[in-house]
Parts: sequence; structure tokens; C-alpha cells
Amino acid sequence: MNMPVAIEHAVQCQTGQKTVRCLRIVNETRDVKTFWFGLKAGETLAFKPGQFLSMTFVIDGADQTRCYSISSTPNQPRQFSVTVKRVPGGQVSNWLHDSLDVGTELRVGTPAGHFNCIDIRADKWLLLSGGSGITPGMSMVRWMLQAGDYQDLHFVHSARSPEDIIFHDELLGLDRQWPDFRLSVVCEQAGGEHGWGGYRGRLNAELLNLICPDFRTRRILCCGPAPYMQGVRELLETLGYPMQQYVEESFGGAMVPQAKAPQAEAPKPADQVSAPVAIHYARSQKQGQGSTEQSLLDIALASGIWIESACRNGICGSCKVRKLEGSVSMSGAMALDAGQISEGYVLACCAYPLEDMTLDL
Ligand SMILES: Cc1cc2nc3c(=O)[nH]c(=O)nc-3n(C[C@H](O)[C@H](O)[C@H](O)COP(=O)(O)OP(=O)(O)OC[C@H]3O[C@@H](n4cnc5c(N)ncnc54)[C@H](O)[C@@H]3O)c2cc1C
Ligand code: FES
Repeated sequence: MNMPVAIEHAVQCQTGQKTVRCLRIVNETRDVKTFWFGLKAGETLAFKPGQFLSMTFVIDGADQTRCYSISSTPNQPRQFSVTVKRVPGGQVSNWLHDSLDVGTELRVGTPAGHFNCIDIRADKWLLLSGGSGITPGMSMVRWMLQAGDYQDLHFVHSARSPEDIIFHDELLGLDRQWPDFRLSVVCEQAGGEHGWGGYRGRLNAELLNLICPDFRTRRILCCGPAPYMQGVRELLETLGYPMQQYVEESFGGAMVPQAKAPQAEAPKPADQVSAPVAIHYARSQKQGQGSTEQSLLDIALASGIWIESACRNGICGSCKVRKLEGSVSMSGAMALDAGQISEGYVLACCAYPLEDMTLDL
């Protein structure tokens, strides 16, 4: 499936942060809300369905940045939504639920991420999601159906209970309207005043074979909490699914397609001895001091050098910096492509200096 040329072009061209304003807030379930944001006059947000962006909120006077998948479709380029689940004890998700008001302005980064239905191609899809991991899949479903450019799409969502099914009414409506779209929901607990007559338990071999017997012939995209995705991966491997057709995205960890991410540098050795290092920041002509046990991001921030960051996990790419001299060990490079790696880019959040270095900052 292709994006309209204008959106494709804009996705390639747009860079940098935008200021957006909260337009409305929708209660989805007891602990999930959707936040709609509008762009400034004349601006649009181009993204591929399934991508995320970094969002910077001012909380108690300090900037806090987190990544959120866009749950709306690129067909509405003047506004977009993110759908956020409360994380117990979480700073930003709870602030969003309790304190973000309609009218509040905030900064968002450029949409990014390979987990999208434009870069990944298929005729037959199986989208698997658990809990708030429904958000990138919802954007893809909305896009594919509105664009009418798909052949066969099956969405299997797992939720704790019937009350926790995000976007349930909309998905049921789409299931009724579109012959080649199928929704299946699996609930761990029955619960609720109306009970649950649908699939019960956790997604297992019996349920998957029953719900989607031709799953082996489909491209599978999966997103959800880490234990859910681990369970899905193990299940598919056991059932002989061709894992090169499987792609996943974690909200708290790295996206793990079967093909391994490009490895920019040697991974950090477990027994690496801590040693002092000096980091020279070429453009600002500043100097930082740290150790081989600190990430380039932490050394820079402690030295008064600002590097944007969001996931701190090698996923979002917002902390990308170019090294001019010196080498690093890096625990992952999901957000970098081979070209960027060959140009010397590293992810400051998960790159550890092996020696004195010069960065293009
Ligand atoms: C690419 C990407 C896309 C994302 N998309 C969404 C989305 O569409 N909807 C959404 O609700 N969230 C999404 N997230 C997660 C989001 O970025 C935040 O991590 C989440 O809202 C928690 O932030 P917090 O400030 O409330 O928690 P923090 O204060 O950062 O963390 C508090 C505690 O919760 C743990 N924690 C952090 N994140 C999670 C998590 N996701 N699940 C369980 N425990 C966690 C931390 O380890 C810590 O112990 C996404 C993350 C990434 C990397
Ligand atoms: S902060 Fe997201 S990749 Fe480094």
C-alpha cells in the first residue's frame, strides 16, 4: 500500500519540533484517555500509520519527554490523537490524565518508527495487540480501511476485561461494515455488569488456531506489554510461524523484528572496567567529563549540553548524535539505519564512550 505522494513527500521533508494545542480529551476506559491535538494554522503533521512521536510536557516547571504512538490516521493531517494508559506511579501518564487541560500547548517531535504499514508491506495482515498496545494498530486499521487499500485484515486484541477494551465500539462498527476486516477480542477475565460471551483467557495455540486458522500466511505486527509480546513470540515459534514475517513494537523496550537491528558498535561488555573519559563538543566548543560507565546522554546533560531524549531505550532516535572522533559501545541501534551508522551517528542514550571523544554538538 502506498501513501499519497503529498504525504510521502511531507514525511520525508518534515523535521524539527512543532507546537500543538490540546483540542479535546476523550475517556476511553477506566484508565485510558485519548488526547486530540491541533496544529498551528497552515501546519500539518505527516506520519505513517503506526508511527510514534516524542511529546514534551512542562510538569512542575521541568520538561518531561515521552514517546506516544499516534492513534489517529494521517487522513486527518491538521489534528492527531494519542491514547494514553495510566502507568501506576508514572509521572507523565498520570499528569496527562489528571492535569492536562484543553487549550494547553506543548511541543512534539517528528513522527518516527519503522513499525508502520507503509514501510512494512503485506496483502494479508494479522495485527495482534495487548492493552494500550492497540494504539499503533488502531491508526493502521483506520488508515487501511479509509484508504481502501488492503486485501485482508484481521485484528486480534487482548484485554484484561470487557471494560478495558479500548476503541471497542468503533472496532465493532468497522467489523460490521467492512467484509475484509475482522475483529476478534480475547478477554482475560469475564467481569463487568454485562458479562462476556467472547473468547476468554490468554491468547494460546488453541485460541489462535480457532480465531485465525490461516495465521501462518499472514504478516503479523504485534504491540503490547512486554510479557504479552514474549508470550506471542514463544507461541508463534512453537507453532512454526515464519518469524521473519513477524514485527513487534514495545512501549517499554526495543522493537524486535526477526532480522536484528543494525549493530553500530560493539555491545557494552558486561565486565567493562570504569575509566574516566573527556568528551569534546565541537560546535559549542565545550568540554565534558564522565566515565565509560555513563551514557553519552548522561555525560552531556551533566556537562550542561542539551541532547533531546524521549524513550532512553534506543527506540525513538531523538537522541541521535554524530561522533567525529572516538568510539563507543552501544547496547542497541534500533532507531538508526545503516546509512546513519556509516555517517557516524550513535544513540546517546545507549552509547557508552570507550575513550575520549569528539561529538558534533
Ligand atoms: C515508541 C513508544 C510508543 C509508545 N506509545 C504509547 C501509547 O500509545 N500509549 C501509552 O499509554 N504509552 C505509550 N508509550 C509509553 C510511554 O512513552 C510512557 O513510557 C508511559 O506513558 C509511562 O510514562 P510515565 O511518565 O507515566 O512513567 P515513568 O514515570 O516514566 O515510569 C514509571 C514506572 O513505570 C514503568 N513504565 C514506564 N513505561 C511503562 C509502560 N509503557 N508500561 C509499564 N510500565 C512502564 C517505568 O519502568 C517506571 O518504573 C510508548 C513508548 C514508546 C517507547
Ligand atoms: S532517547 Fe530514544 S533512542 Fe535515545
